[in-house]
Amino acid sequence: MNVENIDSVLHEERLFEPSSDFVKSATINSAESLAALRRAADDDYQGFWAKLARDEISWHKPFSNVLDESNAPHYQWFNDGLMNVSYNCLDRHLQTRGDNTAIVFEGEKGDITSLTYRDLHAQVCTFANALKAQGVVKGDRVVIYMPMTPEAVVAMQACARIGAIHSVVFGGFSGESLKDRIEDAGAKMLITADGGNRGGKIVELKQAADKALASGCASIESVIVFKRTGHNVEFNRDRDVWWHNAIEGMDSVCEPEWVEAEHPLFLLYTSGSTGKPKGIQHSSAGYLLNSILTMKWVFDIKDDDIYWCTADVGWITGHTYVAYGPLAVGSTALIYEGAPTVPDNGRFWDICQRHKVTIFYTAPTAIRALMKSGDEIPAKYDLSSIRLLGTVGEPINPEAWIWYHKVIGGARCPIVDTWWQTETGANMIAPVPGAVATKPGSCTLPLPGIIADVVDEEGNSITTPDKGGYLVIRKPWPSMLRTIWGDDERYVSTYWPKFDGKFYLAGDSARRDKDGYFWIMGRIDDVLNVSGHRLGTMEVESALVAHPRVAEAAVVGRPDEIKGEAIFAYVVLRGDRPEDGIDEALTKELRAWVSEQIGPIAKPDDIRYADNLPKTRSGKIMRRLLRTIAKGEEITQDTSTLENEAILLQLQGKV
Ligand code: WTA
Repeated sequence: MNVENIDSVLHEERLFEPSSDFVKSATINSAESLAALRRAADDDYQGFWAKLARDEISWHKPFSNVLDESNAPHYQWFNDGLMNVSYNCLDRHLQTRGDNTAIVFEGEKGDITSLTYRDLHAQVCTFANALKAQGVVKGDRVVIYMPMTPEAVVAMQACARIGAIHSVVFGGFSGESLKDRIEDAGAKMLITADGGNRGGKIVELKQAADKALASGCASIESVIVFKRTGHNVEFNRDRDVWWHNAIEGMDSVCEPEWVEAEHPLFLLYTSGSTGKPKGIQHSSAGYLLNSILTMKWVFDIKDDDIYWCTADVGWITGHTYVAYGPLAVGSTALIYEGAPTVPDNGRFWDICQRHKVTIFYTAPTAIRALMKSGDEIPAKYDLSSIRLLGTVGEPINPEAWIWYHKVIGGARCPIVDTWWQTETGANMIAPVPGAVATKPGSCTLPLPGIIADVVDEEGNSITTPDKGGYLVIRKPWPSMLRTIWGDDERYVSTYWPKFDGKFYLAGDSARRDKDGYFWIMGRIDDVLNVSGHRLGTMEVESALVAHPRVAEAAVVGRPDEIKGEAIFAYVVLRGDRPEDGIDEALTKELRAWVSEQIGPIAKPDDIRYADNLPKTRSGKIMRRLLRTIAKGEEITQDTSTLENEAILLQLQGKV
């Protein structure tokens, strides 16, 4: 797609200044102090990051190298320093905030637990010792497939403590997806649970894990199973050990493993346009640094905040803004296990009221869904404790922004619309809420030290307001991904393919308005954004084609009011197309099949059967055409190269 031809149709002129109340208590509370930070980064880029890294991270051995560019685009930060992420999240708070609450947890059924920093520290150390007792050592990969409970965070922190590399797999993924990730990571251990509570049902995690292990995963030596639901699950005594048995008799003291700043903290799998999911590899110190800074700059975090990021730990947002960021700055993080709809659509607001949440961070898809259920629901709750709202994952439409602002934020809270990616590790373009006025739908301006730009095909900055281009980052930053696990070539070819490999290519298109505000326009590749989650069209297609009745499939996104994008699949069957293109039983079967292969989020919303897929002469599927059809729009593309124009009617569902 030629991004320069994307003209924006959205023109939003409203500007929201932060209230004087908010500004009064904000850490960065003026345009001047923000400008001073930006200036510091401009004047001495390395000095800027070095100072922050010294101020914000507790080092075991201080670093002297700041940025090593000798092997670009394999940048290294602070690489001769030694530190430990878990030490920075826990131990360093024990003296000053040991009795402060680190985590407040609410299960879907209403059970509430709260852990002080001292409690969490003891749990992490105990579990870290259990991991060691199971033979896990520095550099080993541990896959975590857990419900949203504090134990997921304990498991992640325990890995960090001993230098094991975790890879969290979202609990909504199927056994099949779990298997792919375990195998790609070559994981030695799997940490899972008997199940989790979500949507009034039990998520059968252990069952899915057993399925994954039965079909492969030769590298797995043992499985630790946390008892969450207590329902009956199969248990393989040679391989499985209950969490409560694994920690029995373990010491609650565990000296952290001092690792190099560049030691991988975790892998997190994310979708690309082609091929299998990419194991995005993050570092320890650089990742931690931007997590801390954005907690301070974007979320204006204070010790007495109750910070609730609703993301699951299976996504990057749940890593940076649940498991690491809030703890690294010593604040209180709220974790909720379940769905926003249990027992009704007021659950989020009920939680905010009861726990006096002060900062609330969620995805536009959730906002839209809750908005749909009406203003009367949030009106029943006292949301006056909230002082700051955030969004992430996809562009937020102005209508939802205004609703969020008025109905949830009582028109008094700034909204931080944060643009970033699994690959960037932390917020990149986002308002500093006490210093930047916001516009509904814009993620506003890059954070200090983040040199974001919108460029044309040749890599020149686009200075014409509202003209679309490639979103790039011109300089390396500490929390950037380091590589793709096991596929370094793909790292180089995916993120540094253009502009002489000098800029990081985000894969999004964007424009800047006359005030320099950034507006994200969408992905430039074939990646769907369903309910804020990136899914490769390719993955859904492969899943469909794996079904014995499917010969070929093409998947595109179609705009959806709630989910952002819905999945539209065009399918060519082996044998005959169903009469009139309708076979409800098969459609149901294929949807269940994809759900089984990848997970329920990947289930196609629409399936349409055709004798053929529209292809160019070179054999490429005409995705743009398929997108037009999926949207129900009139076809304006040239279709004369189609082998069989009659299939257009089939694809449109007209015959
Ligand atoms: C999209 C999620 C517009 C974007 C943290 C990006 C956004 C992809 C925003 C990354 C936002 C994320 N406004 N679009 N505030 N935040 N995106 O890796 O397309 O799951 O490239 O990371 O989500 O998705 P990922």
